[in-house]
Amino acid sequence: MTREKEAKKTVYIAMSADLIHRGHLNIIKEAEKLGEVTVGLLTDEAIASYKRLPYLDFDHRKVIVENIKGVHKVIPQTTLDYCPNLEKLNPDFVVHGDDWKEGVQKDTRENVINTLGKWGGELIEVPYTKGISSTMLNNVLKQVGTTPDIRLKQLRRLIRNKNIVRIIEAHNGLTGLIAENTRVEGEGQIREFDGMWSSSLTDSTAKGKPDIEAVDISARINNVNDLMEVTTKPVIFDGDTGGKAEHFVFTVRTLERLGVSAIIIEDKVGLKKNSLFGTEVKQEQASIEDFCEKIKAGKRAQVTDDFMIIARIESLILRQGMDDAINRARAYIAGGADGIMIHSKKKDASEVFAFCQRYKEFNFKVPLFAVPTSYSGVYERELIEAGVNVVIYANHLLRSAYPAMVKVAKVILEYGRAWEAEERMMPLKDILDLIPGGR
Ligand code: SPV
Ligand code: MG
Repeated sequence: MTREKEAKKTVYIAMSADLIHRGHLNIIKEAEKLGEVTVGLLTDEAIASYKRLPYLDFDHRKVIVENIKGVHKVIPQTTLDYCPNLEKLNPDFVVHGDDWKEGVQKDTRENVINTLGKWGGELIEVPYTKGISSTMLNNVLKQVGTTPDIRLKQLRRLIRNKNIVRIIEAHNGLTGLIAENTRVEGEGQIREFDGMWSSSLTDSTAKGKPDIEAVDISARINNVNDLMEVTTKPVIFDGDTGGKAEHFVFTVRTLERLGVSAIIIEDKVGLKKNSLFGTEVKQEQASIEDFCEKIKAGKRAQVTDDFMIIARIESLILRQGMDDAINRARAYIAGGADGIMIHSKKKDASEVFAFCQRYKEFNFKVPLFAVPTSYSGVYERELIEAGVNVVIYANHLLRSAYPAMVKVAKVILEYGRAWEAEERMMPLKDILDLIPGGR
């Protein structure tokens, strides 16, 4: 090694590099002027810990960044926090755009400055490149849309990379847009829903019908199509009982072709009633053998490896006991289920947690789904702790919309005009502009 090389300063940049633009290239160019550049490329898991999953997976992004002029080396950064990598490398400089002084990355910045201080390293902030950002590119990509194949794969990627996957019910295009676009910022994170639940309860209710499989699969699939028209996030389909095994295989094929990521089927037979009625209504559980046959038939029918068939256990709903629920979970996994949904209508999460406790001891586990409708007091962090992988908010958009609509209808009737209802509604100009492209 020459003297000159020995003396070369070291520079660290952390980036996601999902949607590369000239802002990234500018930072690398500026960093290169200071010394030898190592890029800490955030892993999919690190990115998903504070914002949406990247479009391109880690390996794909790594190949791209390795080939950018000025990059000496690419290493994984497995946390949003730079410090573990900085402690290992002790770089002379960290280079970052100057746009992180406020917002979700503020604390990360503070930590970087403090850590670099330990060995006299310096944070260099490059002026933010105006007119382009990952957020802008992300919005453009959303408008372009997605393909069935990309959307379908998304759920498994999310489960692999997030500590909990957050799903919300959507029963038409508009609620699909709410699931797609609603986000909140706080605690160093941008939180949004990861996907949509096509619920039999809300699909049926929105059509003024009871949740007894009276809305046929074609009508349900039309709803899924409406969701997919205007969104890019993955869809989980509530398959009720799945019907006869001979029919279920066709449902699996149709959903898979459309780009639905998963179907959840419940282990009941006969006239299905909503689970939240519990034992108030007559409901019959399927035999383990028959239900396993249905799962197997579905698994044989699917074309890709990505589509998921999730077995929903109704033992706690039907008061068959925890042992029955656990036995069924074992049998359904052995039968090929890609996930287990454990359902409960208790007011608290105690029996779901008791199930999770025993589930943790399984040698072979598949992702665990929970639907905290009756036990809505549970926090996501508690579900994560218990080992739940996917949380489904199964009916909340419809349940919130209905009372608001009834109230406005009543106010109009009471006053004989609509003026008094105005304060309960969004302004007309806002609804006109809610969906772009109308002007
Ligand atoms: C649905 O949303 O239709 C469900 C969940 O199946 S539950 O209503 O809790 O049964
Ligand atoms: Mg249902």
